[in-house]
Amino acid sequence: MYDFDTINDRSGSFSVKYDKRRELFGTEDLLPMWVADMDFKSPPEVVEAARKLCDIGVFGYSYRPESSIELFVKWVKKRHSWDIKPEWITSSPGIVATLPLAVRVFTEKGDKVLIQTPVYPPFHAAVKDTGRSLVFNTLINNNGYYTIDFEDFENKLKSGVKLFILCSPHNPIGRVWSRDELTQMGDLCVKYGVTIISDEIHSDLALYGNIHIPTASVSESISAHTLTAMAPSKTFNIAGMMNSVILTSSPKLLAAFNKELHTMRIESGNLFGHITMEAAYRYGENWLNELIPYLEGNIDYLYDIFCSELPYIKFRKPEASFLLWMDFRATGYTHQEVWERLVKVSKLGLNDGEAFGKEGNGFMRLNIAVPRSVLSEAAERFRIGFKK
Ligand SMILES: Cc1ncc(COP(=O)(O)O)c(C=O)c1O
Repeated sequence: MYDFDTINDRSGSFSVKYDKRRELFGTEDLLPMWVADMDFKSPPEVVEAARKLCDIGVFGYSYRPESSIELFVKWVKKRHSWDIKPEWITSSPGIVATLPLAVRVFTEKGDKVLIQTPVYPPFHAAVKDTGRSLVFNTLINNNGYYTIDFEDFENKLKSGVKLFILCSPHNPIGRVWSRDELTQMGDLCVKYGVTIISDEIHSDLALYGNIHIPTASVSESISAHTLTAMAPSKTFNIAGMMNSVILTSSPKLLAAFNKELHTMRIESGNLFGHITMEAAYRYGENWLNELIPYLEGNIDYLYDIFCSELPYIKFRKPEASFLLWMDFRATGYTHQEVWERLVKVSKLGLNDGEAFGKEGNGFMRLNIAVPRSVLSEAAERFRIGFKK
């Protein structure tokens, strides 16, 4: 039995979630339930591996060992039924860094890059900041369950899109894409010669029996067009280690991406990243198997409260990860009023839905990866701010 109930005091650890509250919300007097890391301790073996390194006390240059790559290959086979080869794999200091890097590698200035909104803000930034042109395939919101507008998707690809950044599972709308959806998107990308970046950072956190299917595992032709981004960071709560795993079966895509990593001299990664990744994939599975039902329990707990007491704030249970995409449009408050009530009355810090695209007007994103007692406190704060 792992402990997800203890409240861990993160103060003084330079955590964005806690220590940037004043900067973001204008106050420290607020329960932070925004940025996507968890308040749980990482698996004990991961903590122990970092501690052992501290006992050595020398933090020199480092490299990602072969053993970590072998562990990752086994992990992906076991958890996602995908056969991958060590030679497909490279690294990167995080997926947020990978996105603009890949945009630069696979497109030219002014090229069109497709994203499916509402979507994780760095998807937008990776395209804008590199001087490429954003093209949107807006997801269809069917009462909180989002689907893909394939006609629009194809029309956008036809219009000359060079790169598609897919979020799978999708943040913030919580979908685990089905094999059919992935096949349709992938086949269309193959048809129009569009490269796919498949950000699968949330893949290990599929919930309620949903099964994540890696995009590149769907077919060989899709695989040949896809660069996949995975990581131990969300799964084992080690995002601060800035470490991700980038892979593709295409020697051409891999060589191009690696050339850029090498040019920037960022391929060696960081010492704590390597140590914690190795321990996580070697020992972390039992912990993850207990984390998942804990997260589901948190979602169920809040869902019941909202359905019975705050029915005008709506959310669908996500199919993956620990983020709720909350729809406040039926509260009668404007987007700005919702934000202000959250911060000033409820004293809760959520992510602003509009950062995910204009479809996020009236929405906020809530992170439920906290001990149940903290969630209960959050529920009380929602009542204070929104109960009518
Ligand atoms: C879809 C998605 N990609 C990437 C990241 C972060 O990636 P990294 O920490 O590896 O930079 C997040 C974090 O919330 C995310 O939701």
